[in-house]
Amino acid sequence: MKIYQIDCSARKKGSASRELAKKLLEKIKKSEDEVIYRDLDDEMLFVAGLTESGMSIPENERTDQHKKMFELSDKLVKELKESDIIIISTPIYNFGPPATLKAWSDLAARVKSTFKYSQEGKQIGLLESKKVYLVITSGGTRVGSKDDYLTPWLKHVLNFFGIKNIQTISADQMSIDYEGSIKKAEEEINKII
Ligand SMILES: Cc1cc2nc3c(=O)[nH]c(=O)nc-3n(C[C@H](O)[C@H](O)[C@H](O)COP(=O)(O)O)c2cc1C
Repeated sequence: MKIYQIDCSARKKGSASRELAKKLLEKIKKSEDEVIYRDLDDEMLFVAGLTESGMSIPENERTDQHKKMFELSDKLVKELKESDIIIISTPIYNFGPPATLKAWSDLAARVKSTFKYSQEGKQIGLLESKKVYLVITSGGTRVGSKDDYLTPWLKHVLNFFGIKNIQTISADQMSIDYEGSIKKAEEEINKII
């Protein structure tokens, strides 16, 4: 199995989402598994300068910046397609995803790679057979509450890619009870078989 781990907290040292994702990986990884790791905080680009309605620019019109954007997008799509299990760890930033995770979704959504259109124009996800674990942390926003726009958005994007098997582990409202919140998330991780 290939496990793809994606972290995106803008904080490296002391990051709860990164630490919990590491614990989760240790819990689920078998000795024969391969791990692909990506830190969105190290490298990310925004979709920009498009000339078509979707993510497309004719090759002969691509600037160096466009080329970099497509190179990263191709790499992210390949990593996604190759993986069997995906761990995405993310904090809530301003009630939604960190900008890097939103930018990742824009680069990962590629027609004929992660989704396609049926003859009737319906969007069909192409990554059905994968399992995703979401590790979500927050300061004050309760995951699953009406203020949490991250979790439903992220699930919706993954559903759009065809991924339905999604399990969420959360350490939310850490500014209210840090230890209790981490403990609850660790217990959820320990329960995973
Ligand atoms: C730019 C920014 C925006 C934030 N917005 C929110 C928010 O809307 N709701 C919330 O509960 N916490 C918010 N926080 C707190 C983070 O969610 C919390 O510190 C984070 O989950 C910790 O994860 P980490 O330790 O992996 O970085 C924000 C933090 C930052 C840096």
